Amino acid sequence: MARLAFPPGFLWGAATASYQIEGGWNEDGKGESIWDRFTHSPGGIADGNNGDIACDSYHRAAEDVRILKKLDLPAYRFSISWPRVMPEGRGAVNQKGLDYYKGLIDLLQKNNIAPVVTAYHWDLPQKLQDRGGWANRDVTDWYAEYAQMLFKELGDRVPYWITLNEPWVSAFVGHWEGRHAPGIRDFPTALQTSHHLLLAHGKAVQAYRASGLRSKIGITLNLTPMDPASPRPEDALAAQRCDGFLNRWFLEPVSRGAYPADMMDWYSKRMTMPEIGSSDLSVIGGTLDLLGVNNYFASRVAADPGRFPLELHEGPLGEYRTEMGWGINPEALHDLLLRVGRDCPATDIIITENGASFRDMINSRGSVEDPHRIDYLRTYLAQVHRAIQADVKVKGYFVWTLMDNFEWAHGCSQRFGLVYTDYHAQKRIIKASGLWYRDVVKNNGVDVG
Ligand code: FCB
Repeated sequence: MARLAFPPGFLWGAATASYQIEGGWNEDGKGESIWDRFTHSPGGIADGNNGDIACDSYHRAAEDVRILKKLDLPAYRFSISWPRVMPEGRGAVNQKGLDYYKGLIDLLQKNNIAPVVTAYHWDLPQKLQDRGGWANRDVTDWYAEYAQMLFKELGDRVPYWITLNEPWVSAFVGHWEGRHAPGIRDFPTALQTSHHLLLAHGKAVQAYRASGLRSKIGITLNLTPMDPASPRPEDALAAQRCDGFLNRWFLEPVSRGAYPADMMDWYSKRMTMPEIGSSDLSVIGGTLDLLGVNNYFASRVAADPGRFPLELHEGPLGEYRTEMGWGINPEALHDLLLRVGRDCPATDIIITENGASFRDMINSRGSVEDPHRIDYLRTYLAQVHRAIQADVKVKGYFVWTLMDNFEWAHGCSQRFGLVYTDYHAQKRIIKASGLWYRDVVKNNGVDVG
């Protein structure tokens, strides 16, 4: 048995998101979010479930922190529900909502757990959606005002801020595929929305830097390595395009202040281009103290000329799949980290999400054995370690997720947690993977081989 040692001070943690765990959807003055609206409308969610209660974390923050403590985690990534703290999306602050997060941060600090706070993980106030949501350019100012309020109220106690979680998903799954709230299906709208998300991020970082706060701020991107389905040149081009669509469209503006030229060209031949103000890209560029990387899988891409607008088909890569149908490709995360390290050499990288869903069950002894998750995490962490050995500046790693929770369009059918959630009894049971991860954290290293 060999141990892969991680650098001293490596930030180990687990991640969650407000809508996926909190419940309390209309309590204490919280406003409606686009996810409340989406899940309360028929047809959107696989198992008809919603986040009205989810893991009930709005009432169980103390229990969540006790579990983090049991797992010995030095950091916890959670997100703030915008409509909980600003029910109208703008203006008046809902003190009770804000107090929930202040209380959570107090508890974390008392237990020496660093809060890593995502300001936006997909739950836009419905009131702002009624005014066009992310498709309306004004949202960039609404978001910056909201973020400014968070910096003022919580900023001195938060060592790491993430402005947005996975803007690609907000833009394209929410406004093109329509599988996520707000359920719009229009590619040019999604593209415009992606620009607004990036601009909102840029404005929030400007506000942060102007505030005088000096901890780290960045964005979390979902980055997916793309493999051509065959050696045919058209598949290689399709893979490059898919990389442009999903990865470079976000990476390049935040790192070097420009959209990728090949994608600008591709889109401009097929649709009305998004409106991009002349100084927008200077607001977006150079905004990263840290880059959050979410990665779960890699994709296999084939040319498919019939498909508008990207003319490609993206599918899972690899023989082994998780319950989500996602291919298991740990080496791809290593390659991805090397690439990001090359593209953004001055930026610290934190893996803000990585993990797997499997069909976990409580056994007759009342425990949950999840060897597949342990294998997944071990093999991925070995590749993170390899990237660190190659001098990539990976400073932390967060398992998605602390506990099984509401998995968006999949409802409660997908279990990604280190902790099993029994939704009926509202009981949390630490899985074997949770105990295994606790040892990884304790040893600051992963045993392999
Ligand atoms: C990511 C999301 C996270 C969770 C995982 C499985 O795309 O950021 O909320 O749903 O996928």
